[in-house]
Amino acid sequence: MPQESETQVDEPGRAPQDAPAGGGTRRGLLVGAGLAGIAGLAAACGGSGDDEAGGSGGGGNGGASGGRQGGGGTALGSAAEIPVGGGKVFKDAKVVVCQPTQGEFKAYSSKCTHRGCDVGSVSGGTINCPCHGSKFKIADGSVANPPADEPLEEKRITVQGGKITLA
Ligand code: FES
Repeated sequence: MPQESETQVDEPGRAPQDAPAGGGTRRGLLVGAGLAGIAGLAAACGGSGDDEAGGSGGGGNGGASGGRQGGGGTALGSAAEIPVGGGKVFKDAKVVVCQPTQGEFKAYSSKCTHRGCDVGSVSGGTINCPCHGSKFKIADGSVANPPADEPLEEKRITVQGGKITLA
C-alpha cells in the first residue's frame, strides 16, 4: 500500500502549482504576445516602403543567397558624392556606399556587426564605427579592426545615369 500513500501526497502538493487553468492561460498569453510582436514587425517592414511596384514578383535574380526584398529601389543620391577610395554613410537608408576603385561601387549595411551601432564615417579605406573602434574594409566589408568579428552585411545597389539606387 505504499503506492497509494505516495499518490495521495503528490496530488495535493502539486495541485496548486500545476493547475491546468493557470499554466495554460499564462502560456497562451505569452504565445499570443509573441505572435503579435512578429505580426507587428512584418507589418512595419511591409508598410514602410514607398515602392510602387511591390516586391514579390520583381526578384528575377534571387539566386541562392535567399532573395531579400529590399524595398523596391530607394534612391540614395548621386554617384559623384562617393569619393574614389572612400565612401559615404546614408543614415536614413542605413547603408554605406563605397567606391573602392574608380567606377566600382559597393554598399553595406551601416549597422556595425559588433553591437549594432551605426557606423559613423568612411576614411583611410575603412568604414569606421564610433562606438568601440571597429573598422571595415571598403572593398568587401570585412573586418579591418576589431572588436567586430563579422563583416558588414553587403547590400545591393545599382548605379545608373550617375544615380545610386538601393535595390
Ligand atoms: S558597435 Fe561598432 S564597434 Fe562596437
